[in-house]
Amino acid sequence: MDNRPIGVFDSGLGGLTVLKEIRNLLPTESIVYFGDSGRAPYGTKSKETVIKYTFQNIRFLLNQDIKMIVIACNTASACSIDLVKHSFDIPVVEVVEPGAVSAVRETVNKKIGVIGTVATVNSGVYEKAISRLDPSIEIFQKACPLFVPLVEEGWWENDIAVRIVEEYLLPLKEKGIDSLVLGCTHYPLLYNTISKVMGEGVKLVSSALEVAKVVKEVINKNNAARDDKITPVYRFYTSDSVEKFESLANSILNEKIHSAEKVDIERY
Ligand code: DGL
Repeated sequence: MDNRPIGVFDSGLGGLTVLKEIRNLLPTESIVYFGDSGRAPYGTKSKETVIKYTFQNIRFLLNQDIKMIVIACNTASACSIDLVKHSFDIPVVEVVEPGAVSAVRETVNKKIGVIGTVATVNSGVYEKAISRLDPSIEIFQKACPLFVPLVEEGWWENDIAVRIVEEYLLPLKEKGIDSLVLGCTHYPLLYNTISKVMGEGVKLVSSALEVAKVVKEVINKNNAARDDKITPVYRFYTSDSVEKFESLANSILNEKIHSAEKVDIERY
């Protein structure tokens, strides 16, 4: 048994889509979440900068006495997983491999689209992960740099969101893909808009549920489940405005969060 919380971080609010699935699957676990909205987006930054941010975020979470790190950010996973994986004495879970596994399972015509930030797409991590699982699959990638600011602004389904999603995704639709990997944890918040643009023939694949399953597996393997008689605690931290974080987090999690705290992440 291990009563310490799970530490989850993202460049902002997107990782809450992962937190939500972890909470559904593991309702007795406590979670500490850090959203680095003050330095988002990560996806347009250099690999070195994203690596620096990733280590700072992890050092902050380690200060909260966590038992596991979940990198709920594709960009941070893509840029730093090889460095991070063995740098800490607690397990680290990332989001790319689980997303690739689920896309390979979903495709029938073996044509998969992958969308993500510029950094994630340029890193080629999804191509590598999907091709390793099934080399016969054709992969079509597209970076969508305006999606993260749209989500952080709370514009998930308005006309501007539809127009921007069309601009990025209609060329991808023409490739005849039957599955589309939402390779950024912010993108599930644009689910309805993306799904409207792509149409019924394209299955949208988000890694959030698969990541939650991996977290459960690791906890079981390490015998590290929390005592289910103790009520779980959720703590939220952000590097930007607490009010803005709380208001958007409330919409994402469908509940009221009043306890977010601001962190000076550059200290870590
Ligand atoms: N949620 C992050 C990801 O999964 C967003 C990246 C960003 O801040 O640009 O890639």
